[in-house]
Amino acid sequence: MNWPTRYSQSARMAKRSAIRELLKLTARPDMISFAGGLPAPELFPVEEVRDACVRVLTDRPSRSLQYGESEGFPELREWIALRESRGGVRVDPGQVLITQGAQQALDLVGRCLLDRGEVAWVEDPTYLALLTAWRGVGAGFAPCATGPEGWTRVKSGRAFGRPPRVFYANPNFQNPTGATWTRETRRRVVEQARAEGVALVEDDPYGDLGFQGDTPPSLWSMDAERAGLGRGGGNVVRIGTFSKVLAPGLRLGWVVAPEEVVERMVAVRQGMDLHPGTLAQSVVWELVQRGTLERQVPRLRTAYQERCEAMIRSLEEADLPGVTWNRPEGGMFLWVRLAEGECAEKLLRRALEVGVAFVPGAEFWVEQKASNTLRLNYSHTNPERIREGVRRLSSVIRAG
Ligand SMILES: Cc1ncc(COP(=O)(O)O)c(C=O)c1O
Repeated sequence: MNWPTRYSQSARMAKRSAIRELLKLTARPDMISFAGGLPAPELFPVEEVRDACVRVLTDRPSRSLQYGESEGFPELREWIALRESRGGVRVDPGQVLITQGAQQALDLVGRCLLDRGEVAWVEDPTYLALLTAWRGVGAGFAPCATGPEGWTRVKSGRAFGRPPRVFYANPNFQNPTGATWTRETRRRVVEQARAEGVALVEDDPYGDLGFQGDTPPSLWSMDAERAGLGRGGGNVVRIGTFSKVLAPGLRLGWVVAPEEVVERMVAVRQGMDLHPGTLAQSVVWELVQRGTLERQVPRLRTAYQERCEAMIRSLEEADLPGVTWNRPEGGMFLWVRLAEGECAEKLLRRALEVGVAFVPGAEFWVEQKASNTLRLNYSHTNPERIREGVRRLSSVIRAG
């Protein structure tokens, strides 16, 4: 069989990232990797997960190993609905769909809301795997800037000839920049979306990981309040995940959306994976009942703040000319700008030789492609290794 002639258009268009191939080198034991968006493995609640596995396989083996409901376990949907009901806005369990991580939620949203050739508005830079997922349905992207005045179109946006269908945002501790939208930005964006008839996709994997605790209200709840709805269900589709607060290997996340959107997503997912894994749902349900999440979240916030500060202090001490970075208030990432004219991709090749890895920013840009930017992850590495990693990185930056 001549396979290349048999591939679909979307398979032909799908690209494996050259950078990801390079980053395979990060598996080397001496490598300090600031590349992946990985949680700290030593903070996984291993004992609790082990106990939960034994408990669910002892008490409810059939439910944990049998096929399950397409929407996910009703008890877990109910719990998520309660957790998402904040600020006087109620979420109904019927508005919740359990997914295999936030990534599947994004894929489902793309398949349900975008046709080939349609345009999604995104911040520039934005979450890389969102671009991969929605390119798969043939969508185009138009870059926007966001601020207290809401969203503004980036002038050079080529795709702006066509009307936008959705606006994708990651308003808390954004991947890759670590930036968080202010309350005012949220209010304006929610208003603009209503005025222009654009669906807002609010992807919020990091919202629980604010160093100081709570983040501003969600777009979902602001939109519902704005529309005078006692319960959400207006213009926003909100996405959450257990990946960053429990463990990504569980592959469990969720979508909160108006019932009719959930219903469409269920129809689509039935041709995809039938339902989310029952063993993972059983384990997560057991963990939430035992209060594991309430214990994990403060631990993670403290540890990640310490790691973030260690990284920033190490960069300050390195005193690299022309190099600047943001100060995230939560999440997992630091966004760094090298001096004008420097290239982060070239720097990566040299950095790998001295045993430190990161992701060049160009991966995340839709249009601007600022090649002097890079993303550093601090959650995965302990403070001592962070200091050593920044020392290695600084030596190659300084060597030019
Ligand atoms: C912004 C954003 N959305 C979605 C995801 C995917 O998360 P999950 O592991 O739940 O699929 C990630 C993971 O890094 C992310 O950073």
